[in-house]
Amino acid sequence: MRLFIESVAREAGKEALAYFTDMKHFTVSGKATTRDLVSDADRAVEKKIIELIRAEYPEHSIFGEETGRDTGNSEYCWVIDPIDGTQSFVKRHPYFSISIALKKNGKTIAGCVYAPVLGLMFSAEEGKGAFENGVPMHVSDCDEIGNAACATGFACLRAQKMEHNNLKYFNEIVPLIRDIKRCGSAALDLAFVASGRYDAYWEFSLAEYDIAAGIFLVESAGGVVLKPSNGNPELELSVLAANPVLIKQFQPFFE
Ligand code: IPD
Ligand code: CA
Ligand code: CA
Repeated sequence: MRLFIESVAREAGKEALAYFTDMKHFTVSGKATTRDLVSDADRAVEKKIIELIRAEYPEHSIFGEETGRDTGNSEYCWVIDPIDGTQSFVKRHPYFSISIALKKNGKTIAGCVYAPVLGLMFSAEEGKGAFENGVPMHVSDCDEIGNAACATGFACLRAQKMEHNNLKYFNEIVPLIRDIKRCGSAALDLAFVASGRYDAYWEFSLAEYDIAAGIFLVESAGGVVLKPSNGNPELELSVLAANPVLIKQFQPFFE
């Protein structure tokens, strides 16, 4: 299954690159707000992914960011973010990814995050481990918050929600860590934790398709993902990801 998902992501990556490199022209529009962008590329890449999955598994359900949930009621459901990092994509910034997860009865059993411009394919399958470009990967062994190279995110839709826009956490944590990056693809941020490039990552109020594959990668690579929501339903899909030692040092900031 892992190799099938990789092959779908690779084909989707070709489609994304055709737009990214201007071989195909795209237009950009706002979704719920003018800050929340969608482009022709997002729709075309999702269409390609769904075509390839349907050809192999016509009975499976699909939940794609751009097309929503289908009406299928299979125990299997594919969760797709065709371009995670559209803000980067439309500005020709290479930090975006294709994220595909396969869930069985609500539990992720396989997934991949593919960054086509960077040439990085991250994938995992239940009981078979996690891989970067076919080579087994593992979370970092950083055990001290002061040495941690981290990433976070600030979503366009949450910028004005002063309480949950992440600035409080950013201000508290950044002076204590070694490095912070904010590159704009939650799926790839999680894959970078899984592969040891980032020691920790946190972000609030994401969507299932942003994080389903990435969480699975981190857990399959020996890491831990917590959901620091504190019972607030608005924060339900928030994530804090790190290795098992470091997560204990970050957790108190989110309690
Ligand atoms: C966004 C990215 C970004 C995160 C936003 C997401 P999109 O996804 O994951 O890193 O900060 O919350 O919405 O819109 O580019 O698919
Ligand atoms: Ca996304
Ligand atoms: Ca997207």
